[in-house]
Amino acid sequence: MSQMKHIDNIPSTPGKFKMEKSPYNRLRLHSSLAKLTFWSFVFLGLIFVFFFRSPSSSSPESLTADPSRRSLRTSSYGGPDWEKRIKASAKVRSRNGMSVLVTGAAGFVGTHVSAALKRRGDGVLGLDNFNDYYDQSLKRARQALLERSGVYIVEGDINDVALLKKLFDIVQFTHVMHLAAQAGVRYAMENPSSYVHSNIAGLVSVLEVCKSVNPQPAIVWASSSSVYGLNTKVPFSEKDRTDNPASLYAATKKAGEEIAHTYNHIYGLSLTGLRFFTVYGPWGRPDMAYFFFTKDILKGKAIQIFEAANHGTVARDFTYIDDIVKGCLAALDTAEKSTGSGGKKKGPAQLRVYNLGNTSPVPVLDLVSILERLLKVKAKRTIMKLPRNGDVQFTHANISLAQRELGYKPTTDLQTGLKKFVRWYLSYYGNGKKSSQ
Ligand SMILES: NC(=O)c1ccc[n+]([C@@H]2O[C@H](COP(=O)([O-])OP(=O)(O)OC[C@H]3O[C@@H](n4cnc5c(N)ncnc54)[C@H](O)[C@@H]3O)[C@@H](O)[C@H]2O)c1
Repeated sequence: MSQMKHIDNIPSTPGKFKMEKSPYNRLRLHSSLAKLTFWSFVFLGLIFVFFFRSPSSSSPESLTADPSRRSLRTSSYGGPDWEKRIKASAKVRSRNGMSVLVTGAAGFVGTHVSAALKRRGDGVLGLDNFNDYYDQSLKRARQALLERSGVYIVEGDINDVALLKKLFDIVQFTHVMHLAAQAGVRYAMENPSSYVHSNIAGLVSVLEVCKSVNPQPAIVWASSSSVYGLNTKVPFSEKDRTDNPASLYAATKKAGEEIAHTYNHIYGLSLTGLRFFTVYGPWGRPDMAYFFFTKDILKGKAIQIFEAANHGTVARDFTYIDDIVKGCLAALDTAEKSTGSGGKKKGPAQLRVYNLGNTSPVPVLDLVSILERLLKVKAKRTIMKLPRNGDVQFTHANISLAQRELGYKPTTDLQTGLKKFVRWYLSYYGNGKKSSQ
């Protein structure tokens, strides 16, 4: 009944409520006003914090925010010291040298290419988001290595268009060596959006900025042998079909090649895609078989070796990092200038794709035997059926086009290259005692 009375006191129309003018009610009114004022301030404060203190909600970075679990936030940048470091790193020190923006510079290939460019007097600036796809301390160690040779790596994401523009404001890069990507075929089933983020959206961001700056740089970028997918005709030639990818990784690299065609066609960007074949060597990638086989053999852990249907051999055209670096530098050296300006094409521009492989596929079983000899440890092998999660049975490069046009000639066989890798591995991880993660 008393509940009903309370409801009866509430006016049917707002504004019709009549206050009784008692001192007690005045006191209540004051305290309500004070509460209202207090909460208004709290509310306004929150709005202020949201709009003015958090990273700009309309920044290009946030528009392309990665929905994946990886932390890809760009750290803060700017300031005169930062710009000074960038200019010093990108300063050309040789006659006819180039100034190159290397994306993915803290990565395996990026570190080697950056160091090689710097050694011959080119200006180099690195860009990398140091994501945690694999052991970040290895990326930091590569960064420290480059730092010692005068290469600075800006920490940021290739999707951060504002950052890319800023870098081009500071340095007129003549070339971009675009190596930043989400690599690895199997991880695509775990984190597919990271491939779309880096290999498709990221590539578009890089090309968008490159097409709009003046002068436009020439771009050399990493595609992959994985675009040959389920092809059975060997060796793989650039003229072969590339429309049956076996993994999302391969599909994003194939998409990259089509995107490159578009930017060349519409904006006159000079674009060279390099299809790398299983690159290995010192400072390599811990997610690759030669690397984790080494770790597991040293630990006495069983390694899984895949075989194809009917005991078919799984083989890879392993290519040593120094050979890949020579191919990258040759591609940069032979890249013609982009032809566009002000975001408009002024004439036809160069568009190229090359295989960079070793032309001698080696069965994975042979790779294991070489590692056993070098490590002086017998591997515990488990033979497994090749799962259908992105890996193909074999890769084999036809490199005659790169030979003819880039003077590309790989010189390191697997035995020699693995010897150098194992020497590095043992010195870096302390004879296997301090093993990689
Ligand atoms: N290593 C190989 O065998 C091989 C084979 C074929 C193609 N490739 C291609 O070559 C390139 C280099 O490969 P790698 O073996 O050095 O790989 P890597 O993973 O060691 O290097 C890639 C680097 O790019 C960075 N990166 C990734 N996404 C980024 C983003 N959105 N913004 C900024 N930085 C980002 C990573 O932090 C990493 O340091 C990649 O494009 C890869 O797909 C490599």
